[in-house]
Formats: sequence, structure tokens, C-alpha cells
Amino acid sequence: MRQLIRGRILDFHADPAETADHHRYIEDGAIVTDAGRIEAVGDYSALRQDGLAEIDHRPHLILPGFIDPHIHFPQLQVVASWGAQLLDWLQDYTFPAEAEFADPDHSRTMAGHFLDMLAMHGTTSAVAFCSSHRASAEALFGAALDREMALVAGKVMMDRGAIPAVHDTAQSSYDDSKALIRDWHGRGRLRYAVTPRFAITSTPEQLQAAGALAAEHPDCHIQTHMSENRDEIALTLQLYPQARDYLDVYETYGLVGPRTLLGHSIHLEPREIARMAETGARAVFCPTSNLFLGSGLFDADGLRAAGVVSGIATDIGGGTSWSMLATLAEGYKIMQLRGQKLTPFAAFHWATRGNALALGMADEIGTLAPGSAADLVVLNARATPAMALRMARAQTLSEELFILQIMGCDRAIAETYIAGRPMKAGRGKG
Ligand code: GUN
Ligand code: ZN
Repeated sequence: MRQLIRGRILDFHADPAETADHHRYIEDGAIVTDAGRIEAVGDYSALRQDGLAEIDHRPHLILPGFIDPHIHFPQLQVVASWGAQLLDWLQDYTFPAEAEFADPDHSRTMAGHFLDMLAMHGTTSAVAFCSSHRASAEALFGAALDREMALVAGKVMMDRGAIPAVHDTAQSSYDDSKALIRDWHGRGRLRYAVTPRFAITSTPEQLQAAGALAAEHPDCHIQTHMSENRDEIALTLQLYPQARDYLDVYETYGLVGPRTLLGHSIHLEPREIARMAETGARAVFCPTSNLFLGSGLFDADGLRAAGVVSGIATDIGGGTSWSMLATLAEGYKIMQLRGQKLTPFAAFHWATRGNALALGMADEIGTLAPGSAADLVVLNARATPAMALRMARAQTLSEELFILQIMGCDRAIAETYIAGRPMKAGRGKG
């Protein structure tokens, strides 16, 4: 079905931290979509056609949908678990919740809720950790395929250090991951990420199996966690005494390259930063999680200056909000504490094209380029009375974006389109 979506259009063609010419803004703009793909973007007056169905989102902003490059599917009921730091939070709350995903029915029910939550918050693509159970990944991939989402996900590999109900083995994790890659990777818009949880919950044999999977499937992503918390780093180095540092554990097993996403990457050694830059491994900043678990303050500018590409993500359920707006707000505050500045344009670039670049997927998501899938978010900067009051004094697009970033939540998401279909307010219409 062809349709025209009208509104104030904003997208990015360059990183605002690098050049002055970084965005395109069309005040009375239109996006024509056909069969879920973008056919054209331009002035409404140039694109309107008699007989073409129109959806009018004025005065709202339309951007490429948000991308969340680090989120845990089986933690949707773990958000807001009190009082713990990483390692006890995992043991006390997270592993027991993940154990429930051994049940395919529970996984399927939760997969629907998970993808609904993403859409409700304007997120059209995500990179997700599933539980260690193959059923959890099957359920999430199946639900995402139905919605034509560009989802990257993987079954967590973890054969020690947790509770028996979430342990696999080096061999079973290899076999299950292999079968999931065969069945889902490249199907629709789905992709597989080889997913060793982190060094603490994998034996050397399992990291070797993960490295074998990565070598056999070089077009798959690799996702894991690194250097989130000081106790985690100390335990890792105790478990892997030959390693020079945390990254060296992953390097030893062939898990570090440009498709590697290293969640958190807060407390890094100079050698680790240099190797991340050399290998192209990505850091993923998870601001609400880092504050909630008391993990530390990510060094966004330091990593950029060293040549490391970073994404920004929610990390539900260590993270406290599903919203990439709230995530950008907390990211801004962490950068403040480090004496760094996140401009509104840089923030919205990060959650869209920037995250797409971090994933190596900028030709498909985070873009409004003709031919790409029509994944869109429609933002209402007057969504709450407090926002409307503040907007009455806003004069520039940059101010409007900052109000959305600092005050916005799911109420600011007027609509979310995935492959041209409305997934929030207009769900079921198309
Ligand atoms: N490190 C290993 N597993 C996890 C997880 O589930 N959440 C966070 N925040 N860190 C981790
Ligand atoms: Zn995580």
C-alpha cells in the first residue's frame, strides 16, 4: 500500500560532533512509503498526489525510528529491582527472572509485551540479549518477524556462575546458537548476534565455542558485557589469570572486531581503548543502567577522541526506562558530570543514525533514504502540560529537541511506524 505521511521531518547525514552540516529539516515535509519502504522524502507540496492516502502528523516531528543497541528481553519484569550493584543484582533478581524463559509459552507472551514496549517508546530496532534458553530466542525472533522488525538478537551463552536453571554447556550453547543462526539469521529483517553473556558466566571452553561461531558466521554480530563495575573486572581477571586485561579475554577467543558490541565499557585501561579503536569494536553506553546500578560514568568524549565508536542504549532491566529520550537525558547528565557536552542534535543523531553506524547497519536503519524500510518515530514536544508550558518559550528546533530529550517519555511518542505500519496509536489500521 502506498501512503504519504506528513509532518516536520528531521534526519541526519553526518555526525553533529564532527561537522556543521549534519541534518536535513523540512518544515512541511512528507514521506511517501510503498510496501513498507521509503519511496521519497521531500516537501509536501512536491510529493502530494490526488488519490494518495495521507496521514497528517503536523505539527509533530518525524525522524527515523530509535535504535536500542543493548537491551535484555527476559528482563522486562526486572526493571526497578531495589538496592543492588551488578553482581548481586544478577544473582538476586535477574537470573531467577530469566529462568522463567525456559517455558516457551512464557517466552511468547513476554515477546509480545517486549516488542509492544519498544514500539510504545518509539524504538523500531533493537539488539537484544535473550535468556540462555533457545525457546526465548525462538519466541522473540518469531514475534519480530511478524512485525517486520529489523531485530538483532541472540541466545545468551552462560555455562557457569549463575544458577542451574539458566546454565547451558559449551556444547549445547554452540549447538543451540548454530541452529538459531540457521533458522533466523537473514530471515526477513532479522539478524543473529553471538551472545556470550560476559566472561564471568562462561568457561574458557564456552568462549572458545563462541569464537568458533563468530568465525563460522562473520556476518553475525557479537554482543557481550565488559568493564561495567570494579568487582566484575576483579572477578574476571581472577577467573582468567593469563589475561592482560578484560578485553584480552575476549580477544583471546576471537570475539573482538567491528561487529562486536561491548556493553558498558566504563572502566577501561589505555590498552583496551587502543585495541577497541584498532579492531573497530564498539562501546555501548547504557546511562540509566550505569546510574541505577552505581556502575560508573562512561567516557563518551574520551572514547570518541581515541577513535572508538559508541552506541547508546537502555539496557533494560538494569536500565530504568524503555525510552531512548530518557536514555539521552541521563546520557546528557553523565556527560555533564564528566565535563562533556551532548548537544540536542548530537543526541538525536546518536539514537538514530549514530546507533545504526555502531551496528554497521546505517544503510538500512536510522535513515530516511529512499529504498530503506519505513521505520519512523513521530515526536510530540507538547505531549504533557509541563512540556507544552516549556515549549511556549522555545524558539528553535534545537530547543524543541532538548525539551523532548529532557522531559520526554512514552507520551511524547505520537506514533511509531515499523516497515510503514503504525504500531502505536494507529495499531491495527494498516
Ligand atoms: N553483565 C552481565 N549480564 C548483565 C546483565 O544482564 N545486565 C547488566 N547490566 N550487566 C550484565
Ligand atoms: Zn546488559
